[in-house]
Amino acid sequence: SSHTAISIVDASKISFSPSPEPGTHPCDSPAMEISDPATVEALTKAADLLRRGQCVAFPTETVYGLGADATSTVGVNSIYAAKQRPLDNPLIVHVSSLRQLRGILAPAGSAATTNGHTTNTCEGEIPEVYNALISKFWPGPLTILLPLPATDSPLSTSVTAGLPKFAVRLPSHPIARALCHLSSLPLAAPSANASGNPSPTSASHVLTDLRNRIPLIIDGGPCSVGLESTVVDGLRDPPVVLRPGGISVEAIRELGGVWARTVISRASLEDAADSSIIPESPGMKYKHYSPRAGVVLYEPGTPAPRGKDLVRSSKIGKVGILRTRTWEAGAGKLALDSLTRESDDARSKGGGEISRGLFAALRELDDASVDVIHVEGIEEVLEGLAVMNRLRKAASVVVRNV
Ligand code: TXA
Ligand code: MG
Repeated sequence: SSHTAISIVDASKISFSPSPEPGTHPCDSPAMEISDPATVEALTKAADLLRRGQCVAFPTETVYGLGADATSTVGVNSIYAAKQRPLDNPLIVHVSSLRQLRGILAPAGSAATTNGHTTNTCEGEIPEVYNALISKFWPGPLTILLPLPATDSPLSTSVTAGLPKFAVRLPSHPIARALCHLSSLPLAAPSANASGNPSPTSASHVLTDLRNRIPLIIDGGPCSVGLESTVVDGLRDPPVVLRPGGISVEAIRELGGVWARTVISRASLEDAADSSIIPESPGMKYKHYSPRAGVVLYEPGTPAPRGKDLVRSSKIGKVGILRTRTWEAGAGKLALDSLTRESDDARSKGGGEISRGLFAALRELDDASVDVIHVEGIEEVLEGLAVMNRLRKAASVVVRNV
């Protein structure tokens, strides 16, 4: 294992200007500008590491990612090794422009090759069904599935774990985009946590999990969304949300057309413990997002735990309470050593505060050495669907309202 360097980068020094061609998406072939030399130097160093097949942790708007050259099997395998991630759980590819994405779909030299079969998708083009989604949500926390090119795929087979489709997104975070742009590489990047832990939303979370396992962390401050991207397969009718995330299912359905029929994969809705569900997104079958402490999840509307509930759990140690919308401050004061996570913002209807703070709160309570965390669940609408998806996977006990 080697030392992990930390490089602080100010994202406000990086800007992308929209593609000049009229009628194209602003992210089609944007130009990048970096306004100070220190930022150029830090990002160039990181891009050099990536080009040499090493991995680098960097911020995205959702969570921190651990990125490597998606075309290099050595690079991609170093991600799996650092995270100790199961090899059959595929990675999301990140690009900085639609042009870069088309370079994956139509690798140089493959244009002349036809396999003689008629398909619904035109080799080299982004399937039309995605136009509405891309115009509305890119750059941003949305991942789409695309067919791998029939021949000469530039992506390492380790990225897709052998599946015929690959997952890709165009992030809005300037640092993530700058790394794809400067290295001229599509970057495979899962969340930069040790496999099974809550995803990291700050550089210090990454350091806690991956210290001396990776060469570099770029610290660009806390993530604004706080939960991972929504993963959507639009190559099926109806389209399927494989993982709820930063873009709500309601917002996708509002696009109309085929998207109005979008369904949510059953596997993403069930408790992790239910092994009868066969996951469609391989990652959904693993234990996930779990702090060291046990998590007790209360369905929304369930009263805060009181007296005997907390005494019972306090027998096994220190108790943490994570309030969201209705539990009163001080609900945890009945138990000795209890912690109450105060977040009055989180009570204000849900402008993303719960998503943004969730993983950090679980990690904070772990740092305070609590043994059990009682969490007040929220309704599964809008951001609530993704929040409850993560909490159900983290929870060992779910308390239902009776
Ligand atoms: O917001 C995000 O998506 C973050 C940041 C870093 O971009 N990345 C992230 O990656 O959350 P990860 O590896 O933690 O989660 C990727 C999810 C997994 O559930 C995986 O199974 C699914 O996407 N996935 C990736 N490639 C897939 C594919 N080809 N088919 C189906 N599911 C796929
Ligand atoms: Mg992850």
